[in-house]
Amino acid sequence: MIVSYERGTAAEQAADALIVPVRAGAWPGAAGDAEVSLVGELDAQLEGALAALAADASFAGALGSTLVVTTLGRLPAKRLVLVGLGDEAPLPATAIRRAWANAVRSAVGAHAAEIVSPLPPTGNLDDVGSAAEAAQLATYRYTRFFGVLRKDEAEQDEPRLRFVGELAESEVEVALARASAVVRAVSLARDLVAEPPSTLTPATMVEHAERVAREAGLEITVLGPADFERIGAGAIQAVGKGSVVEPRLIHLIYRPEGDVVGEPVGLVGKCITFDTGGYSLKPHDAMLTMKSDMGGGAAVLGTMTALRALGCRREVHGVICAAENMVSGIAFRPDDVLTAMNGVTIEITSTDAEGRLVLADGLVYAARQGASELIDLATLTGAAVVALGDTTALFASDDRLAEGLLAAAASSGERTWRMPLVDDYTARLKSDVADLKNTGGREGGAIIAALFLQHFTEGLPWAHFDIAGSALAEKTEGDVPKGPTGTGVRTLLDYLTRS
Ligand code: BES
Ligand code: MN
Ligand code: ZN
Repeated sequence: MIVSYERGTAAEQAADALIVPVRAGAWPGAAGDAEVSLVGELDAQLEGALAALAADASFAGALGSTLVVTTLGRLPAKRLVLVGLGDEAPLPATAIRRAWANAVRSAVGAHAAEIVSPLPPTGNLDDVGSAAEAAQLATYRYTRFFGVLRKDEAEQDEPRLRFVGELAESEVEVALARASAVVRAVSLARDLVAEPPSTLTPATMVEHAERVAREAGLEITVLGPADFERIGAGAIQAVGKGSVVEPRLIHLIYRPEGDVVGEPVGLVGKCITFDTGGYSLKPHDAMLTMKSDMGGGAAVLGTMTALRALGCRREVHGVICAAENMVSGIAFRPDDVLTAMNGVTIEITSTDAEGRLVLADGLVYAARQGASELIDLATLTGAAVVALGDTTALFASDDRLAEGLLAAAASSGERTWRMPLVDDYTARLKSDVADLKNTGGREGGAIIAALFLQHFTEGLPWAHFDIAGSALAEKTEGDVPKGPTGTGVRTLLDYLTRS
């Protein structure tokens, strides 16, 4: 979706569809504030027909509800897309996102190519950005593998959204540019997760990272098996053993131009490009969708693309732990013991608990590269899905960090809930033969996994996002279409560029 802005009056614009925001309870009826003026004005031009149609369709402005109405040539726009804003006051950014996402999706669903929209009624630039971001993310599509049978769909023109309003052009353009940088970051993460495991491998992930580094002005270092041997990163080494495509640890560095504010932060992403479970093989149904087991790495790479455009003032290290968890004659096995980069030995009780292994080395690596705060993202446990559904689970060793991340998650609209690091459960990771074993039973599985990771955080403030339930959406909701969500990118960007 291509988004632009011009000064003017929305009601006067020719378009395939005009978006018409409606506050719940404020219309139809007598309300004089600016928020209802567009719908009131259009209703007057249609001699009350709009109110009658809305009443007939039981459209009352409930948040996110939409009603598409054809204007039969009586207005410059061919269709009106009424969209409910709900009644929460002041109008929250989450409501703006939902409304513009649904409105644009309805417009595109009605085959509109040229869409006009007023600015959100709050008149604030952050909200313009939220509306633009939501509109673009809601119409995201992944068409790379649409073949001869879906050629028409693949070749559809990109719809255009033109905001029209009274704010200064230069200011709105800054907000739109910021939104587009976020959209590109989230869309890259979605594209990577959407890609099949045969084309998105540790090797091609490196190619993507190299392209990002070039385009975004980042330093990049890529480590492979020989380097793992040298630095003692035996955990990622072991997980990657069973695949013919070698594991890679990708290290990207963003350095701000001008003054650096705060301490370097390390983002560490689980990037298992396919998780068969290894010799602790997953049953068929559980293996399906495991191409998305690189969602943490995708979120880290997406985030790194946008830091410069958003003017991030902190130094950021992105560490992507890329491996494919496969079975073969040289794959690692249950009962194996391996040594992570910090010297901690690990007895393998399940080769399917591989994410915590690659992250163990990734966290230590990031800490030793100078990060003074660590944040990891991982599709880590089925237990997190059982506990929270599609809400992201957040674990943190540090309350200040947790609060910063929860605030960022709330303002960016990514549903996130903090979970406890229950110290006492650490006993469940005790091994008879090594320092730790890599599983500790089913109960509290997401907590156990987080406690495992904590052994590799070198005492730094650390937070862990378990995105197992949020990396893929089962159904379209707001600006997240069914499929890969790009979750984590918006929270991280908000955290790193607003604080
Ligand atoms: N990648 C999976 C976790 C997962 C499950 C992600 C469902 C998305 C949806 C992870 O590697 C895994 O297999 N975890 C095991 C851990 C267990 C063996 C302790 C799990 O959750 O079953
Ligand atoms: Mn697994
Ligand atoms: Zn996994």
